[in-house]
Order: sequence, then structure tokens, then C-alpha cells
Amino acid sequence: MNGRDLVRSVKAVGSGGAVQGLRTVRAAWRRRRADAAGLPRRGAERARVPGPVQGAQPGPGGGIVRFARTELRIRVAVNGAVFWGWDGAEPEPSYALAGRCPAPDPRAVLEPDKDGGWRVVAERVTVAVSRHGAIEVRTPGGVTLRRELPPRWWEPVDGGGGRWTQRSEVASDARFFGLGGRAAGPRLRDGAYRLWNTDPGRPFGPGDDPLYITMPVQMVVADAATHLVFLDSSWDGTVILREGEEGAGSGHDRPGSCEVRMEGGPLRCWVVVGTPARVLRVWASLTGAAAVPPAWALGHHHARWGFGSAREVRRVVAGYREHGLPLDAVHLDIDHYDGHRVFTVDGERFPDLPSLAAELGRDGIRLVSIVDPAVKAEPGDAVFDAGSAEDAFVRDASGRPVEGLVWPGESVYPDFTDPRVRQWWGGLLQERLAQGFEGLWFDMNEPVSFTAFGENTLPRSARHALEGRGGDHREAHNVYALCMARAGYEGLRRLAPGKRPFLFSRSGWAGMQRYGGTWSGDVATGWPGLRASLSLVLGLGLCGVPYSGPDVGGFDGSPSPELYLRWFQLASYLPLFRTHASLRAGRREPWEFGDEVLGHARAALDERRRLLPYFVTLAHLARRTGAPYVRPLWWGSPEDRGLRDCEDAFLLGDGLLVAPVLDPGAGRRTVSLPRGRWYDTETEEVYQGPGQVVVEVSRARIPVFARAGAVLPVRGADGGLELEVWAPVRGRAGGGLVVRDAGDGWGEPEIESYTVRWKGRRLVVRREGDGSRGEPGCPVRVRGVGDGG
Ligand code: NOJ
Repeated sequence: MNGRDLVRSVKAVGSGGAVQGLRTVRAAWRRRRADAAGLPRRGAERARVPGPVQGAQPGPGGGIVRFARTELRIRVAVNGAVFWGWDGAEPEPSYALAGRCPAPDPRAVLEPDKDGGWRVVAERVTVAVSRHGAIEVRTPGGVTLRRELPPRWWEPVDGGGGRWTQRSEVASDARFFGLGGRAAGPRLRDGAYRLWNTDPGRPFGPGDDPLYITMPVQMVVADAATHLVFLDSSWDGTVILREGEEGAGSGHDRPGSCEVRMEGGPLRCWVVVGTPARVLRVWASLTGAAAVPPAWALGHHHARWGFGSAREVRRVVAGYREHGLPLDAVHLDIDHYDGHRVFTVDGERFPDLPSLAAELGRDGIRLVSIVDPAVKAEPGDAVFDAGSAEDAFVRDASGRPVEGLVWPGESVYPDFTDPRVRQWWGGLLQERLAQGFEGLWFDMNEPVSFTAFGENTLPRSARHALEGRGGDHREAHNVYALCMARAGYEGLRRLAPGKRPFLFSRSGWAGMQRYGGTWSGDVATGWPGLRASLSLVLGLGLCGVPYSGPDVGGFDGSPSPELYLRWFQLASYLPLFRTHASLRAGRREPWEFGDEVLGHARAALDERRRLLPYFVTLAHLARRTGAPYVRPLWWGSPEDRGLRDCEDAFLLGDGLLVAPVLDPGAGRRTVSLPRGRWYDTETEEVYQGPGQVVVEVSRARIPVFARAGAVLPVRGADGGLELEVWAPVRGRAGGGLVVRDAGDGWGEPEIESYTVRWKGRRLVVRREGDGSRGEPGCPVRVRGVGDGG
């Protein structure tokens, strides 16, 4: 270890809790030794490219193109998604798809192309393969969206899988989004983005990358069309992006480029072309519908690392009550465990959790429990003993359980890539339910082991079941948390079949939305952290994970009253609205920041409660359509280049545009508006898009706009459903969707569709396709009619 490593180790120890001390050094050496013994050495390698084309053979949805040194399978699926795989790679097995591989489209045909190449022509896309193995994805109109150059492999001369590189070009106007949760986005600028789920080990800001959730999923938005690319390999890799330039150099456009370098795994890819909405609908059909949280999870949550006792929980809850602030959930962190051991309770400080849960439940407040994967490696610990008997823990190459270092000390890790282990571990959640918890918060599942140097995770040589195929941590690392979320979701479904599981997980991978959501992790307190919070939510939504949100106020430190308020106001429009902070951080209760902040926070909480039916509707629409609740401004108009670059505002569903205040001392801010008429929801002042407007900003709220013609389900003064209708432009119609939900359970509520039209000087709201003569059946409140239309 050199000096710099030592400094880092001290930092790691600092964030890993002072308890750990020199044990992190030991853990790092242990990890290094395991890999030295258990990983194949990188010896001589041979480079390979496909070589010249030799022929082709049609097959379902496309066919196989043969090259001198490999073959390429192309298959268009019935939903229009294109799959291609080199070297015989098939879509399955895949952790992202998990058995959802769609049938091939029988109308897609393989035919000869010019210059000895081949192409597959389908309804929405053409895939052309050159005679050296370059692949072009074209719109039906013939515009090239993406050109993949022939891939290159580096393989050990003595056999085994190898590394590969894939370089592609996109339009010069294209913008990149996605790649999981990135702090410096949502637009991904030029740079290298690692694909390796990582706990940064300290509070992070926009400069930190990678973070907890990485995914080889990109959304590329260009004038010609939007496309999503998914390179289905869970191995470590790097994506190097470079945006193009129009009229670069001697007046020629320079295309954008994307180079993917992967340490292993199959070279296989899915591409979906269309509008952003279509692309995400198809992505959801490939990777699974997003879990709908119970309605209470769309309210306000208060978490804290370091409540320290049931008494303190009661004090905070009483504070919410006394100040008239709505609260829906309280989260208990690892300090409620006995010695930081998972599935235990510190009986002295939390003497009777089921009673506490029942007491909070009477006020409509749910308890949520943190759950870490690591299990204290100590005979006598019930989970350790049971897991050892089950042979549930990850082993090293020589067959010994792998030990890492986490909060409880030396720990072992369930192998969630083993269906048997998932089943066993899912059963352990019974203990949490018996304590009265109604939701789960999965943490530290990158998975983390505190190390003084090297990577703070398991050795790469650690063995995993990988659904019976067998393999090591190089392949399993990025899907470890996905599999933990699966174990949790399936466990909860077995244990409490009538309820919708509520779980959210710090780490994950493509497809994690099937099981739940996520949160920011340890975002740093500060204005840059506030910006990063929004970037994460937007980017994850574009990768198919619609439910997430930040630690309001940031994880560490003490936010100024202004920063806290702005964070609170932003998060009140995000799916997961949760205040949380670290052990040593300052307070996060709204009344701790003075009367002014308290008043404005109350207004944000009340507005969140009023919008709850809208959030519930968005949760159901996310499940049925793949559209995230929180969308970039270009969602409905990806051709608007100005909007592609706008990172400081978002759409909440179709109806609202939220323009958070992300800078200190702001008295006004510029807001980019997509085309159409927009109303300031406070003043009903009218603005016209597309374009930018400057609006005054007060401390009282962040600017929110409603789209003319929007029909929004809200909670009326009597607690019942009400439709808030924003007047369409005269001569135009509008509308909106509403999903009424029992709050929990598996009922399949109808999607109600409403329209709004002008009839003379009156606005008429109708429910479509309903036998009741179209009457909405709930109060309607029309807004935005003050200007005379
Ligand atoms: C790390 C998590 O990101 C944080 O939210 C939590 O408070 C700590 N672990 C302690 O459990």
C-alpha cells in the first residue's frame, strides 16, 4: 500500500464507521490474496475481428450472417425490438430479460444488401450488415441512427472467453442518456462511464462516477429518431461517449461516438427505435413491468441513521403531528439492529417494535426496515448458522466462504444468484414482518466490503451459482443486488400475498424495476448534490426504473435552511419523497430550520398529499406503459434540440412541468417550455412554448406549470377524488388518464380516460368509453379560464 492508498483507507474507514480501523487493511489484503490465487492470469491474447462475410441463412425474425471467424445472429422481435448476438450468443439466459424474450417477428426478412452485405427489413427498422461486420440501424425512411463498426475480441490463446470492444457512431446532433444512475447528467457528456456498481465510500457529487447502479443501457436522442441500446453483459466495462458536432472542422458534421469496452460476457445487443415513449414501452415489455408501490409509499417518508431509540422515533413522529405535517412512513436504519446484525433488533433501545409499529399504524404511518445482505460471520448468529447449514454463502475459488467487512464486522454474503438461496433468504423476511415492518430498504448490496485499498467489494474470483451455470464475481457483481431485490420481492409475495411489496434497493441492474425502486444513496449535502439528485432520477427513469428519489438535505453535513427547503420542494415532486441523513449529519426535520422553512415545507407536503391520486396514476401508467413518472422535457418533443440540453426541469407525467430551484439566492429562473400553452399553477399566468421564459422565484415554492388541456386527478378538500382541469386553448381539446386504486392489493383498476373540450363558452369534461353518459362521477375544478381563452 502506498501513501495515497493509506489516505484513502483512512477515508474509507471514516465513512465505514470508526469501528473498522485496521480491519479494512486486513480485508483488502484478504481480497487481494483471494484474487491472486483464484483468478485466471491474463496471459497471451489473440485479437479477432469477424473477417469477411461468407454467407447467410434466414431464420425466424432475421437469420444468421456468417463471417470467416464468427457468426452474427439477427432477430427482430414481434414488439419491434432488434436483437443481435455475435459468436452464437442468444438473448437468454439474461438477468435483464428473466424469461421475457419476445417471439420473433415472422414478417422480418433477411435479404442480400449492396456490396455483399445483408440486411433485415422490418416494419419499424432496417438492420444492415456490411461484409466486414459493421451493423447499421436505420429508420424505415433510410436514415442511419447508429453504425456499429465490426467488433474486436481479445482472447486468451489457451482458450476461454475474452474481452471485447464495440465502437459505434451516432448522428452529430445526438445526445446520450441513461447508463443507470449517473450524478453528472442526465445528459451524458463526453467522457468515460464505468459499468461496475460501486459504493463511492463517501458522500458523492456530480464528479463521482460510477455509483451504485450502472447499466449498459443507453437512450440516444436525435432528430431522426430516439433509440435505446442495451448491451446485455453484466461484466465490468467502460463506455466512452463523445457527442458529435454539427459543422465541425471544415464545415462537415462530426458524428457522435460510443465505444464500449467489456472485460467479458457475450457480445449481444438489443436496439429499440421510435419515440421515447415507444422505446420505453418496448423496453418494459423486454425487461418487465415496474412494480407498483402501495399508495402510502407515494407519500412522505422520514428516515434517519441514528434515531437510536424508539423514544426518538416517537419524538420525531410527534413533531410531525404537532406541526401539522403529513407523514406516511418512518425508516429504521442499522442502529435499530443488535450489534448491526441483520434480522435482529436492539431490544434495549427498541424494546417492543411490534407495538411501536401498531402505534404508528394507527396514525397511518408505516415502518420500513433497512436490510443489508451481509451476515455477521459468527457461529451462534441465527442467520449465519441457518445460512451455513443451507450452504447459502458465497465461496472463494478454493471452496471457503468469502469474508468481507461490513457494519457487524467480518461478514459473509448470501449468493443471491442461486434460486435456492433466494428462496431461503426470502423466508427470513418473516422476521421483519413479525416486527411490524411494511417495507424494505436494501442497502450495501453492490455488495460492499470495507477495504483500505483496492475495490470495496467481494473478490472478483468469488464463486457464484449464476442460476446453476456457475461463474465468478466478475460476472455476478453487477447483478448481485438485482438478485437480492428479486429474493426480497418474491419472499414478500409469498409471505404477504395480499399486499404489494414495497422495497427499494441501493444497487441494481437492468430489470430491477420488476421488484421495486431505488434511491440516490449518499448524495453529498450541497447545491451540486441537489442537482445530482435530479440527474439520478431522470437517468434511471430512462433506463426503465421509474421509482426513485434522493436523501432530502443530502446525506451528510448540515444544509442551510435554503438548501434544505429547495431539496424538500424538489423531492416533493419525485416518486420517492424521503428525508434521510447520516449518523453524524445535522437535523432533517422541517421544524429544525425556522418558521419560514417550516411553513413552506408544510405547503410542499400538503401539495404532495393533494397530488397523491396523480402519483398513484403515474405508478400504474409506469407499470403498463414503461413511461417513468419523471421525464425529461424532451419526452414529447425529442426533435426540440434546446430541450435535449435542458437539465434543470422535468415533466411529471403528461400534465405538469416542474422547475426546481437548484441555485442559492435565486430571485428568478429561466424555464424551458416544450411547445404549447402552459399555466403557472400558482398564478394561472399563461406562457407559450416552445421557448424559454423567465419567472420570478420566491422561497414559498418552486415553479410548477400545467399543460393546457391537462386533466389531473387530485385529492379534494373532503379527501375524495377531484379532477383538476386546465383549460385547453380555445378550439382545442385536452384530456388525461386516471387510475383509481384501492391503495394496495392486486386489483387491476381500469385506466379511465377523460377529455375536455370547449362548447361555446363552456368547458365540457367527459369520461370516454363509459356507459354512464360520460359524466366524470367526481367533482371537476376548472382552472386557467381567467384569461378568456
Ligand atoms: C449507507 C446508505 O447509503 C445510507 O443511506 C445508510 O444510512 C447507511 N448505509 C447506514 O445504514
